Amino acid sequence: ARHLLGIEHLAPEEIRTLLDLAETYVDLNRRTIKKTDVLAGMTQINMFFEASTRTQASFELAGKRLGADVMNMAVAQSSVKKGETLIDTALTLNAMHPDLLVVRHGNSGAVDLLAQKVNCAVLNAGDGRHEHPTQALLDALTIRRAKGRLHRLTVAICGDIAHSRVARSNLLLLGKMENRVRLIGPPTLMPSGVADLGCEVYEDMRAGLEGADVVMMLRLQKERMDGGFIPSEREYFHRYGLDAEKLAHARDDAIVMHPGPMNRGVEIDGTLADDINRSVIQEQVEMGVAVRMAAMELLARNLKAERGREAAGVM
Ligand code: CP
Repeated sequence: ARHLLGIEHLAPEEIRTLLDLAETYVDLNRRTIKKTDVLAGMTQINMFFEASTRTQASFELAGKRLGADVMNMAVAQSSVKKGETLIDTALTLNAMHPDLLVVRHGNSGAVDLLAQKVNCAVLNAGDGRHEHPTQALLDALTIRRAKGRLHRLTVAICGDIAHSRVARSNLLLLGKMENRVRLIGPPTLMPSGVADLGCEVYEDMRAGLEGADVVMMLRLQKERMDGGFIPSEREYFHRYGLDAEKLAHARDDAIVMHPGPMNRGVEIDGTLADDINRSVIQEQVEMGVAVRMAAMELLARNLKAERGREAAGVM
């Protein structure tokens, strides 16, 4: 494929290939190794129209570890502030001939639209409520390393499902790899029709966590609850916040995940988040660099092959 726009476009074999390649970048200390020539001579532009710490930093590091020239577009200081549209901005950058464009945008579908207008590889770094494919891939790598497999696991995804592109991408990926997915949350934060996607839906946290191998917590995304019901944080933590007592309903060896940024004391107890015997939250961040290196290496290979065919006139 030319782009990485969503998990929905990936076959199970492609997911395995990407994770296997990412694994080769991780050393025994869980640090990613440098592989400086894979993207040598290539230009990567990162365009983040929404705030990010982990995704933006790890795409930048990944590009640099692979030898790309990496440019971070400062959206706040760009002509977007003068009213330039997303497409015009993308076409302007496209005229500078980047090879890889990494894009985060607040509107679902914006990254797909942009990919149709440019002639480089586009990676979706999160679009609205739609998808966050590299997050699901790094979550998958973290699960596979902790559990020794990525199939026949019971994974509970808990909290604000309705506004979460992380939940959607994980649901798609875990389903493709034949896992059992449970969604747990208040009905007000559960999108309609999710049961049709082949997952089980729970309102009660303890019932939903029963026997789970993996517990994935999500942030309450208040910034996306425009005008809708916003639960009180205290009440929310009482019913849906993960603490040691609720976690005791999952399997004894269940791992705790969170994509970040975390709201301690809202969706997760701070002590549990820091408990290295249960929490793999730091490892998720570590795997983020490796997975993004793998994604960009695979897309760069495809791009080079496509350009080679074009040059030989065999398109
Ligand atoms: N998980 C995630 O996307 O975090 P950032 O918003 O910090 O990139």
